[in-house]
Amino acid sequence: MSIPTLITGASQLLTLGGRGARRGAALANVGLIKNGAVLISDGLIVAVGPYAQVQAHALARAAQRLDAAGRVVLPGFVDSHTHLIHAASRAGEYEVRITGASYEEIAKRGGGILNSVNKLRAATSDTLKRRALSALKQFAAYGTTTIEAKSGYGLDLASELKTLKLHKELLTEQPLDIVSTFLGAHVIPAEFRRRPSGAKEYISLLIDKLLPEIAAQKLAEFCDVFCERGAFNLAQSKQILEAGKRYGLRPRIHSEQLSRTGGTQLAVKLGAASCDHLEKIDRADIGALAKSKTVATLLPGCDFHLGLKQYAPARDLIDAGAIVALATDYNPGTSPTVSMPMILSLACTQLRMTPAEAISAATINPAYSLGCEKQIGSLEVGKLADISIFDVDDYREIPYYFGMNTCHTTIKRGQIVYFKSSLGTN
Ligand code: NIG
Ligand code: FE
Repeated sequence: MSIPTLITGASQLLTLGGRGARRGAALANVGLIKNGAVLISDGLIVAVGPYAQVQAHALARAAQRLDAAGRVVLPGFVDSHTHLIHAASRAGEYEVRITGASYEEIAKRGGGILNSVNKLRAATSDTLKRRALSALKQFAAYGTTTIEAKSGYGLDLASELKTLKLHKELLTEQPLDIVSTFLGAHVIPAEFRRRPSGAKEYISLLIDKLLPEIAAQKLAEFCDVFCERGAFNLAQSKQILEAGKRYGLRPRIHSEQLSRTGGTQLAVKLGAASCDHLEKIDRADIGALAKSKTVATLLPGCDFHLGLKQYAPARDLIDAGAIVALATDYNPGTSPTVSMPMILSLACTQLRMTPAEAISAATINPAYSLGCEKQIGSLEVGKLADISIFDVDDYREIPYYFGMNTCHTTIKRGQIVYFKSSLGTN
């Protein structure tokens, strides 16, 4: 048994404890304890609460102390939507978008996702791994301790397997947890677009070849579809997600991002774990989500980066009682950021979520969407000691300071994985 660690001196300790996934008014309940402490042993939380109570625990006396020195202590962020593995930035398209063409126009010309597909297919696993490892270090530097990662820039058997195997290898080669999602249904790849029956043939490839292989090798826990004009329609999305379910992969979906396709209500009907984007949802979609256990994952980084003015109706979703989560959607096309604090800033100013709501939506609710809410997402006895410490004395300052990194220390399974240097840089 390793030496226990006792975290003391937090000005505010946010436990997010007690109630699992949060809806409605409960979203604002962050379980704030003043002068709180956390006792860690063997990577797990063994006591958490007011300092006086925690220091009375039998393991506290011999523990090494980590003084938070008046900072704010909270669960590590759970980023439940990323496209971790990609070969290069798309800064060229960024400039083209600023000077006129839209995201969809660029995609129609063979850019966009297909641009990233060409680059990923040409890249070696080692090159992709180096880029992902550097991104993972940055995720940790911004207080994130678990991410979901989607394939979807391979779109053929070898390149999708290359991506999904990297998710598993990276899991063992660096400290953050990675939950793997198969997104073979991102778009129809170019070689299938040339044939009239190409879409049908590509979907058969996904269902008859890729899914069985991925299930046999246990390379993914979830199956995702980009349900959007120019990608997969509602019937195709249903077919793919149902096939995924037959292979034991729970559905997730990209829906109602640029147009209303009906993907959200499909997700609810299929019992999807999460339904993501949601800029174009209507009242009926909100009602369906509110009555369901499907998490509404909002990705305001995309709207910000694409310069779109219509953000998802977060207030309506929260007020109706949906389980709302926030994620970066880290990807080279629509949201090139690993910063959950920046996403919290956007959630507050653009989605009109309060800082407390945004923090619940970045911790316990995304943990629930990944099926990991028993292990992560809150600071409770028996859970992983996945903790972030922010160099602020009021949690509201985490989103308040935007575009700067106030994360001071990140702890994964009880080990420090990021510590801000004295120079204040990453
Ligand atoms: O979540 N919408 C589909 N997938 C990504 C964008 C992918 C890309 O443009 O490379 C998203 O926004
Ligand atoms: Fe995405």
